[in-house]
Amino acid sequence: FSLLCVVGARPNFMKMAPIMAAFSALQPKVDVKLVHTGQHYDVAMNHQYFQALGIPDPDINLEVGSGSHAVQTADVMKKFEPALDEVQPTAVLVVGDVNSTIACALVATKKGVPVIHVEAGLRSGDRAMPEEINRVLTDQISDLLFTTEESGKANLLREGIADGRIHFVGNVMIDTLRRNLERAVPTTQICADHGRPDFLKGKAGYAVLTLHRPSNVDDPAVLKALLETAAKIAERTPIIFPVHPRTRGMIDKFGLSHLVDRSDVLLLPPMGYLEMLGLMKDARVVLTDSGGIQEETTALGTPCITLRNNTERPITVDEGTNTIAGQDPQKIMAAYEDVMANGGKAGRVPQFWDGRASERIAAEVLAWMQRGCTIAAA
Ligand code: UD1
Repeated sequence: FSLLCVVGARPNFMKMAPIMAAFSALQPKVDVKLVHTGQHYDVAMNHQYFQALGIPDPDINLEVGSGSHAVQTADVMKKFEPALDEVQPTAVLVVGDVNSTIACALVATKKGVPVIHVEAGLRSGDRAMPEEINRVLTDQISDLLFTTEESGKANLLREGIADGRIHFVGNVMIDTLRRNLERAVPTTQICADHGRPDFLKGKAGYAVLTLHRPSNVDDPAVLKALLETAAKIAERTPIIFPVHPRTRGMIDKFGLSHLVDRSDVLLLPPMGYLEMLGLMKDARVVLTDSGGIQEETTALGTPCITLRNNTERPITVDEGTNTIAGQDPQKIMAAYEDVMANGGKAGRVPQFWDGRASERIAAEVLAWMQRGCTIAAA
């Protein structure tokens, strides 16, 4: 049997690392090959993760780069087709919800190659979010679907996916987190490495901020309000802010640099995995619009304030440390005050976020391949 695995953008890398490791330990052997679409290409968004997580070099690089959604998705599709023809795998495995995910899934299914989707079934209910379209469509054309939380199965069943295709296995990103926690880079070292060794001196903790969703950073009024709120928080709790390339571009374009060029805000380039882990682990609070960080903070027990109006990961709110605050400064400040007064929301670690999700996936994929890629009789 053979499996062609696809990665493209930063949030894919930490999901794929444990999956590839789990397959390499499997008997009988499944021949695994890795395709990198090149959706993310900067060293900081890309190579840094391969190195830190020990992901093998991709067997195939498609080098698509940036573009509009249509251009990027189409470029991945055009370049992925010949790669698929060459490898002729038993199945294609995609993770997450980025443009590379739907692009490769669509090419594979139309060529009659079965598709496996890891992190299936998450739904924000917000179709204005590009990832939501990618999720819904990828799940519809997937043959085998692995979910991270119970809500995923309910969503998939509602959309008509057969029960037998769906497996609740837990969270591969948390596999990576558990494996690497001891290697997390201390925050003091990150401050020193970026020329601010005294940034946290005499301070009672720090906050971490990440922003990159188009809905938060592409509109000048929204971005300005969010950065003003962050500045208000920074007056009391210094903020460490690793800046995504999209966000950096927008801050400059809209002339908002003065809101972040402050002594109580530490601006950083996009962080590597072990650096980000260290920052989240010891933060008093994390403010973010990322999906993955909502889950990682829940696994770490760090309070998280989500700067979006919804989440596709409701377990982080129902059981974890996450509070949905949206873009409203008052709600964000109320959530922050709760952290300052009460330490924020206490949470517990969700079921199967135990570091073994990838093993469950590899075992299930092998059994499925041995049945000729058909679902087991009920
Ligand atoms: C993509 C994913 C998003 C994910 C995010 C994590 C989609 C639809 N979006 O968003 O789900 O949360 O990655 O980072 O797939 N750029 C660089 N260097 C890079 C990559 C991008 O400078 O290595 C800049 C370019 O100006 C580019 C912009 O960032 O146009 C956006 O990149 P793109 O991959 O289109 O989307 P992201 O915003 O990164």
